Amino acid sequence: MLNIIKTSSEDHFNETGAGIIASLLQSNPRAILGLATGSTPVGVYGKLIELYRKGSVSFKQATTYNLDEYIGLPADHPESYRRFMDEKLFNHIDILPENTHVPSGVEADPQKAAEDYSRLLDEAGQIDLQLLGLGHNGHIGFNEPGEELQGPPHIVKLDERTRLANARFFNSIEEVPTHAITMGIGSILHAKQILLMAKGEDKAEVIARALKGPITTKCPATFLQTHSNVVVVVDQAAGKWL
Ligand code: F6R
Repeated sequence: MLNIIKTSSEDHFNETGAGIIASLLQSNPRAILGLATGSTPVGVYGKLIELYRKGSVSFKQATTYNLDEYIGLPADHPESYRRFMDEKLFNHIDILPENTHVPSGVEADPQKAAEDYSRLLDEAGQIDLQLLGLGHNGHIGFNEPGEELQGPPHIVKLDERTRLANARFFNSIEEVPTHAITMGIGSILHAKQILLMAKGEDKAEVIARALKGPITTKCPATFLQTHSNVVVVVDQAAGKWL
């Protein structure tokens, strides 16, 4: 089932995303959440923090698994996804640090780090809700367009377009890591529910392609069409062709 929610303002967009996550935690406080970084969820995390401060939601029994991490960035690097999650969400809520998981970007053997993350996910069971942003090239997590996709967590060479899009967070494009560890398409599709969020005119074309175009490895997000429970939250600009 594909449920598309078109929101009317930035606030409404963030509240809608946060509301879906908060309702899940209210009905299942032990929920397992799959989380994303990037600019799209920042406001959603802000709203979740507000809901937590109001006493409407608790993360005390929740567990989280992030989609991805850059290879080569230590956890305390300003642009590491671990640091992003700590600063944008985890440090402001009552989640137990040991219940938050982000792949390690600094293992001497990145392949082993990907395998360790895969094992961790297998042991966790099924993610209840996987939050996703959407790359301009159709990537989800860091599953980049190509001839084939991988199911489990793996190492990926980042697309130049992705590095360019993320260069805004670094001093220069040279500083953007070339590789990352990401959950695979299989890990993502294994979640019980997927919450895909996209905002802005620049996402209109890719989200229409993801949800209505032919399923192809050239646009990894098209595989979301094979999932039975996807909620899509867009703003008016991103949703104009939906
Ligand atoms: C982030 C991630 C990426 C982003 C995507 C969109 O953990 O896996 O797939 O969701 O690149 O990024 P923003 O939200 O910055 O447009």
